[in-house]
Amino acid sequence: MKRDDLFETWSRDQLDRVEAALDRFVPAQAPAGLGDAMRYGVLDGGKRLRPLLVLAAAEATGAGASEAALRAACAVELIHAYSLIHDDMPCMDDDVLRRGKPTVHVQFGEAQAMLAGDAMQALAFEVLTPEGSVVEPALQARLVGLLARASGQDGMAGGQAIDLASVGRALGEQELADMHRRKTGALLQASVVMGAACGRVTPLAAAALADYGAAIGLAFQVVDDILDVTQASDTLGKTAGKDADHNKPTYVSVLGLAAARAHAHELHGRAQAALARSGLADAAWLSLLADRVVERDC
Ligand code: IPE
Ligand code: IPE
Ligand code: MG
Ligand code: MG
Ligand code: MG
Repeated sequence: MKRDDLFETWSRDQLDRVEAALDRFVPAQAPAGLGDAMRYGVLDGGKRLRPLLVLAAAEATGAGASEAALRAACAVELIHAYSLIHDDMPCMDDDVLRRGKPTVHVQFGEAQAMLAGDAMQALAFEVLTPEGSVVEPALQARLVGLLARASGQDGMAGGQAIDLASVGRALGEQELADMHRRKTGALLQASVVMGAACGRVTPLAAAALADYGAAIGLAFQVVDDILDVTQASDTLGKTAGKDADHNKPTYVSVLGLAAARAHAHELHGRAQAALARSGLADAAWLSLLADRVVERDC
């Protein structure tokens, strides 16, 4: 079988595992309709890139089948899906379409959307800290720390605060990179580092994987900015053209489309170079995922 076909088979299997686990972890019976809003926000949708990064990094470090890696994959996706629910609310980007469906606040109301996000954030950490000994306590603590730091003021939430404070401002390239690293890059990098934390990794490989994660993390948001101007809403499953409508500084508005594309390719090169120096015997899926980050059209 060709490498691409093997990857498709691998990723389909992993996504089935993740989907089944999320279905188990996100309770339909949460009170007063909260469970319905949570499940609507996270099940059956999205590219699931972050779980695939967790599981590819785990695979590359010998922990592909571990319970810890599966839980880490679900926890990262829960944080991501919560961030999307809040990102779409009227007080933030005010979006009505997400993953090809009406946004959670459109479907369930603003208060329920806010609470669904809150509950999913907490659930992510519940998933990382199961009772009993399925995940070793030291690993639980490490995964919780990594995910918390990528989600909070120094990561996603901090980046989102900068994003909202930057509307209508002409950010310089450094400021833009800082915002994107926090709001999007941190969680993607954490996905890679958490997956590797589940396995066995030399200090050299750990540093290289962190560099790989930083490069694809930033590249991912650069490409998100590009797709907002080049793709239709149908393809994206979310409203196209909204960055310009909302006067957001993006890689396209700051650098122009051609330079933004060139930057995404440069970051892709950095990610592949980091993998090459990791010394890992089998980083094929991480390498293909880096290609997908830059070549995707949604
Ligand atoms: C969109 O993320 C939001 C950003 C962080 C840019 P994705 O493009 O990964 O969204 P889904 O998970 O596939 O819906
Ligand atoms: C969102 O960035 C980053 C998050 C932390 C959710 P965007 O606002 O550009 O994401 P989309 O384009 O709405 O998916
Ligand atoms: Mg936003
Ligand atoms: Mg948005
Ligand atoms: Mg966007």
